[in-house]
Amino acid sequence: MTTKADVIKKDQQYSVPVAARPDFVLARGEGVTLYDTENKAYTDWVAGIAVNALGYGDEELNSVVNQQLNTGLIHVSGLYHTQPMVELAQLLCDNSFADKVYFCNSGAEANEGALKFARKVAYAKEKSNKTKVVSFTQAFHGRTMGVLAITPKEKYQKPFKPMVPGAVVGEFNNIDSAKEVIDDDTVAVIIEPIQGEGGINVATAEFLQALRDLCDQHDATLIFDEIQCGLGRTGDLWAHSFSGITPDIMTLAKPLAGGLPVGAILATEAVANVMQPGDHGSTFSGGAVVMQAGKVVVNRVLSDGFMEHVQEVGEYLMERLEEINSPNIVEVRGRGLMSGIELDIAPGDIVKHGYENGLLLVSSGTNVIRFVPPLIIEKSHVDELIEKLTVILEKIDG
Ligand SMILES: Cc1ncc(COP(=O)(O)O)c(C=O)c1O
Repeated sequence: MTTKADVIKKDQQYSVPVAARPDFVLARGEGVTLYDTENKAYTDWVAGIAVNALGYGDEELNSVVNQQLNTGLIHVSGLYHTQPMVELAQLLCDNSFADKVYFCNSGAEANEGALKFARKVAYAKEKSNKTKVVSFTQAFHGRTMGVLAITPKEKYQKPFKPMVPGAVVGEFNNIDSAKEVIDDDTVAVIIEPIQGEGGINVATAEFLQALRDLCDQHDATLIFDEIQCGLGRTGDLWAHSFSGITPDIMTLAKPLAGGLPVGAILATEAVANVMQPGDHGSTFSGGAVVMQAGKVVVNRVLSDGFMEHVQEVGEYLMERLEEINSPNIVEVRGRGLMSGIELDIAPGDIVKHGYENGLLLVSSGTNVIRFVPPLIIEKSHVDELIEKLTVILEKIDG
């Protein structure tokens, strides 16, 4: 029998060491609970980094994926038509500002594609001199070579310099700073309506409106990266919905296919129609199994009461987090089931104590514990979290 120690030893021997994993091995999941190989249960406040919106073992998701597998049609490439792909594309367009969709395989890939779309818009207008891409402090748009340039974190960029040229950074939520950096040379402005990796920072409606105005003024493409904050997580379908403004492009990924790898670029007709056959592509784009899973997730998020549930449990979570009486909590912030507590201590020990106490927690930014659970989580899980977190914070303080 393979033991936990065997798995960890093999991981150290054979995996590229880009992650420091804790010393347990996950084996199965049910609802919002994951179990390790020793059958210890962990309530999951991470959801595979804001991915598993429907939790683990969702019957409909499993059944639809299995049905598609049983047709034999897993992958045929973007060379051919398939029904699941057009159905998911239509579902996304019917429920957003977008007219057309391009599917890919991850968040970084979606953002890479979005930048290409924006460049093609400028090229089509014979404005190829427009090459500046504006992102904002604490942004995270991915780690591939292109989007690493617009993820302005020295730790991520330093070993891989030089970055792709043209990236300029404005201050998040600072309209004057945006006015300074966005000009006629700007091809695209990209922002997360709620920053996830950067520490759960919520963009104001005024800031999003200012970016819309500046992009219109300078003929730049406005991209909302809703890879982490989109698709029901905030209690609205889109994290930008509250602001009343729309982008030219929105990128999605994480929760879209219930845990299967996917990315999507949603665009207005004006943007999408500049892209011609051969301008972009990816072997695995729009695979039938992934698309079927996507339909289940989007339809579930849209189903009666689902987003109300996210709002209700999200508000309860924020209220209960605010109640924790710890001198180490600086601020509680977020929206829906995307919230965080900023601490005046490093969050690593809290995450470790969480494991011991049967909680999966994850940090973000430099000193934030972020809560991005499966969207099906219940108030009773919030109560468990608060009880355990209170004890953990007391222990660390003492
Ligand atoms: C807002 C945002 N954009 C892009 C990405 C990159 O997505 P992926 O890890 O799928 O490449 C992430 C991942 O955390 C993200 O949170």
